[in-house]
Amino acid sequence: ASILVLNGPNLNLLGTRQPEVYGSVTLAMVEDACADHAKKLGLDVTCLQSNHEGALIDAIHDAKGRHDGIILNAGAYTHTSIALMDALISVEIPSVEVHLSNIHAREPFRHTSYISKAALGQICGFGAQGYLLALDALATHLREAGA
Ligand code: DQA
Repeated sequence: ASILVLNGPNLNLLGTRQPEVYGSVTLAMVEDACADHAKKLGLDVTCLQSNHEGALIDAIHDAKGRHDGIILNAGAYTHTSIALMDALISVEIPSVEVHLSNIHAREPFRHTSYISKAALGQICGFGAQGYLLALDALATHLREAGA
């Protein structure tokens, strides 16, 4: 099975962006760790990052027929983008929402997520490990679904 790991706005700055909140690992390190972990689970991963809402929507549309699961950290679009939620619902690809920080312990405007309404579940607060937990969750889900 093939998994798309999709990161949204400002996540290209990981490592230098508010390390006290988001940790010191870079996006390249996160993506490498995903590739390693996926290999152990027998999954293929494709990683993609964009700062543009429309590009993220295009990536979700393009995933149809190409990928069996999506791991999405939509960054701040999590809290604003009905369009991203609609895209995920439209393609009907099982998705896991990831956030490095515990969004529920932060400012109230980060407590709501449109992505959650379209995802199997949400993993937040575990830093970069969250992406690996999401891979585990998708591997189990796809196995149980017989995909
Ligand atoms: C984030 C949390 C969002 O609220 C924030 O806008 C981000 C990163 C996280 O991974 O913790 O850009 O998605």
